[in-house]
Amino acid sequence: LLINFITHDGNAYEAEVEPGTTVMEAAINNGIDAILGDCGGVCSCATCHCYVDEAWQSKTGEPNEVEKDMLTCVLEPQDNSRLGCQITITEEMNGLTIHLPASQY
Ligand code: FES
Repeated sequence: LLINFITHDGNAYEAEVEPGTTVMEAAINNGIDAILGDCGGVCSCATCHCYVDEAWQSKTGEPNEVEKDMLTCVLEPQDNSRLGCQITITEEMNGLTIHLPASQY
């Protein structure tokens, strides 16, 4: 599957991922440095904050309560903010586009 990462200044990167990978892991494995993933994916650091492209929000679903709580402490939260470690990529997310924040801090 292919997913697209778009940086805050408009650079686009394509990443090839296996289903079952999280968006955070996909970013780390592909050297996307706007995603840190400090906690290793257990929803407790918020350094995997990203924005799901509006066209894909129905596929990625809604954050759960724990994730929503964590999203209150990210820089520049938006309606489409998510934690990358809480989005597991499935077959139907082929072509998913993720926008990256300028910084995690
Ligand atoms: Fe820490 Fe996602 S990697 S909250």
